[in-house]
Amino acid sequence: MKTSYLLLITLILALACAAVPAALAGSVFQGHAYAVRMCAECHSVEATNEIEPLFDVPSFYVIAHMPGMSKLAISVWLRTSHDKMPDFIIPRQDRENLAAYIMSLKGKRLR
Ligand code: HEC
Repeated sequence: MKTSYLLLITLILALACAAVPAALAGSVFQGHAYAVRMCAECHSVEATNEIEPLFDVPSFYVIAHMPGMSKLAISVWLRTSHDKMPDFIIPRQDRENLAAYIMSLKGKRLR
């Protein structure tokens, strides 16, 4: 009885993982292109600690190094509303790409 229960859970987990399309993992390359177009107006989007275009807006490099920051946190941030940042409506794939790009800056050497 117990064994079949475990098997069932394993099966459900396996199916849930398989259901997430591989594409959703996010493309660093496409995330960068999107960031340059849509986010660079306010954020420094490259691996740099240069002065921000606007006061008080963290660069993507700084965001990538915030404690507890993750792709998931970025993706959630991008579909919730904020005080100062505009509430974009970003398609899911682009959110994943942006999250992948921003987190790819973590640990990068500054230019
Ligand atoms: C009009 C200016 C503006 C634009 C454009 C903009 N942001 Fe922001 N962003 C901000 C400001 C201001 C903050 C500081 C936090 C806040 O809003 O309170 C911020 C903060 C963030 C954070 C940090 C969240 C945290 O936990 O502190 C993330 C991630 C982020 N932006 C991602 C993006 C992405 C991705 C884009 C492009 C799709 C983008 N932003 C475009 C102004 C902007």
